[in-house]
Amino acid sequence: MKNILVTGGAGFIGSNFVHLMLGKYSDINVVVYDKLTYAGNLDNLASVAADSRYHFVQGDICDATAVDQAMQTYDIDTIVNFAAETHVDRSLMEPGGFIQTDVYGTFVLLEAAKKYQIERYHQISTDEVYGQVLEGRSVETDRLHTRSPYSAAKAGGDLMCLAYYTSFGLPVTITRGSNNIGPYQYPEKVVPVFITNALDNKPLPLYGDGLQMRDYQYVQDHCEGINTVLRKGKLGEIYNLGTGTETTNITLTKLILKLLGKPESLIQPITDRPGHDRRYALDCSKIEALGWKNKYNFEQAVEATVKWYVDNEDWWRKIKDGRHYQAYYQRQYAGREVSQAVA
Ligand code: NAD
Ligand code: DAU
Repeated sequence: MKNILVTGGAGFIGSNFVHLMLGKYSDINVVVYDKLTYAGNLDNLASVAADSRYHFVQGDICDATAVDQAMQTYDIDTIVNFAAETHVDRSLMEPGGFIQTDVYGTFVLLEAAKKYQIERYHQISTDEVYGQVLEGRSVETDRLHTRSPYSAAKAGGDLMCLAYYTSFGLPVTITRGSNNIGPYQYPEKVVPVFITNALDNKPLPLYGDGLQMRDYQYVQDHCEGINTVLRKGKLGEIYNLGTGTETTNITLTKLILKLLGKPESLIQPITDRPGHDRRYALDCSKIEALGWKNKYNFEQAVEATVKWYVDNEDWWRKIKDGRHYQAYYQRQYAGREVSQAVA
């Protein structure tokens, strides 16, 4: 693993992965290949921009010619694919882009990996492919029960990766992560929306009864887990990657407000997300057997995230003041307020 193509490396988890890898290893080169959609942000990579081991290529993973050129130019031996459309709510409004990037784009990258016979293709996937899990925990061999266009598209990408392993012997691994939180998360996902709204004394739009459960993991723990699978994972295998503990959205919301010293009266119940998955829960024993474990528990992860947003107002203010964000926010939230109290 010397020359790594990090697709989607200008987004939230991808940029944290780039920081981790360049900080940890002196003998690697990292090429970020990113389309710079609304979610891609070169500010996330500003602190490595002058590093001679870092290179940036603006490109679409669906563009086979541009991908081929990057593979050749940088003599790529490893692809880690973070590039995706990632927001469930947007997938309910405009699913086409999800199918294009998350399924077709994955296929384009797999073809390039096959052509150049690279050492490893690693796919970043999600616990959402298992669908909602009302009881127990998902293991890697469970059947996929996707329920949103986002999760269906991600499952399509996973299955294509496994097909390339089986059919062509491509050295593929997959991690299925839970909800990540931490630095550089675009303020459309619940944690950065709620922190930044609370800082502005604006309502926190909580879907439905707020009792849905998610496994919130600190992004650095996720990135360490990916690195563990890159180094010790078995080819053709899937690894769940989360904390193995779940929290309700209302508990999360109250913790954010408490940490910021803001009143619970800021909580605004709104109509639920259509098809809202009630609970995700992962069994992570397979990756733990490789020697990886989380450093942050739920409270520590939320606290570190809140601190980062408090300390980095310039980063999120620039996004939230933008026209794209404001149009999205209006389309997503306007007129959904309901009056019933939450738990
Ligand atoms: P993000 O939305 O913050 O970033 C996605 C990045 O991909 C952006 O930089 C964007 O510009 C880029 N991109 C999108 N379409 C592209 C295309 N066609 N070609 C090239 N680049 C493109 O996403 P994230 O939250 O960092 O998620 C990264 C990966 O991790 C995704 O595959 C996602 O499904 C997966 N994942 C996310 C979470 C989470 O909680 N955020 C959890 C589990 C898995
Ligand atoms: O589980 C992993 C997945 O986590 C990733 O694959 C996705 O890319 C990522 O977006 C995330 O999906 P979720 O739908 O779980 O994340 P989101 O932050 O959108 O929502 C988390 C929970 O909070 C969910 O139960 C819906 C709720 N929610 C969300 C928003 C944006 C609210 O109550 N209000 C909100 O405004």
